[in-house]
Amino acid sequence: FMKVISSPEDMLAWSKEVRSQGRRIGFIPTMGSIHNGHLSLIHVAKQHCDTVALSIFVNPIQFTENEDYTKYPSELSSDILKAELADVDVIFAPSLTDMYKADFQTEIQFFGKFNAFYEAKFRPGHFNGVVTVVIKLFNIVAPAIAVFGQKDAQQLWVIKKMVKDFNFDIRIISAPIIRDTDGLAMSSRNVFLSSKQRTHALLIYKILSCGIQIVTQGERNPTVIIEALQKIKDEVSDNDIYFDYIGIVEEETFSEPASILNPDATLLIIAARFKNDIRLIDNCFLSGR
Ligand code: PAJ
Repeated sequence: FMKVISSPEDMLAWSKEVRSQGRRIGFIPTMGSIHNGHLSLIHVAKQHCDTVALSIFVNPIQFTENEDYTKYPSELSSDILKAELADVDVIFAPSLTDMYKADFQTEIQFFGKFNAFYEAKFRPGHFNGVVTVVIKLFNIVAPAIAVFGQKDAQQLWVIKKMVKDFNFDIRIISAPIIRDTDGLAMSSRNVFLSSKQRTHALLIYKILSCGIQIVTQGERNPTVIIEALQKIKDEVSDNDIYFDYIGIVEEETFSEPASILNPDATLLIIAARFKNDIRLIDNCFLSGR
């Protein structure tokens, strides 16, 4: 039977017990509102570990001002059901005060040019909040592996960087993006889209597909590719969708290559926004894999 634990102390004790039996814990951190994207991470974890822990915690410190923290969807009882059906061993669902006690005063900070890039630029402080909560969760759950979605490509890169920088003995595994049949990447925030916005959001997938097509035809210059993709975006009128960025980065370094050497290790990344501030991110490998 699946356990649901809310106190960090109880979770630590559970993890210690499991590890003392020689079992390896696979961990999936989430903010809940479980969808098929999250469920796919559970399946990936099961390929590597015998015991699966999933956390559900909407982390306030990773939301920037004007963002949707107070509106973020919360579905704990149906999440528990979905996790149970997916054969999760334990859910860790702490309360806000469990995670951030009144005297909490330590935070991890990125520095230097990192803050000028993509999500870090458009959501100042966001990754400081992500890394701070993930370090807490890693210490509480103490997994052998942790699974993150390719959907949040920069987050995945940041977590891998953090694991190296702070010498965590945890293997980070990435899982492919799960999409609806029309191509829209699944996200807990998709419930906020009106049906008109839902249709406009398909432009993101169209641009990703065109990017792959251009590269498949042989183009290797990121500037040329991005200019072509900007045109597709501009051709679509009657649209309340805006793009924060369309970028091309190397998976390994998250930096912009002068020329694409290996499309299979190069990402086309996109962030789009609607007038009512719903924000969507998506990406693909330029090899189309
Ligand atoms: P959340 O947005 O709930 O996502 C939890 C995990 O699910 C992340 O690793 C994310 O990349 C993955 N995911 C989301 N949608 C996906 C999709 N369509 N296909 C595949 N994977 C998908 O990311 C967070 O929560 C938080 O920042 C967190 C890491 C939990 C820290 O608070």
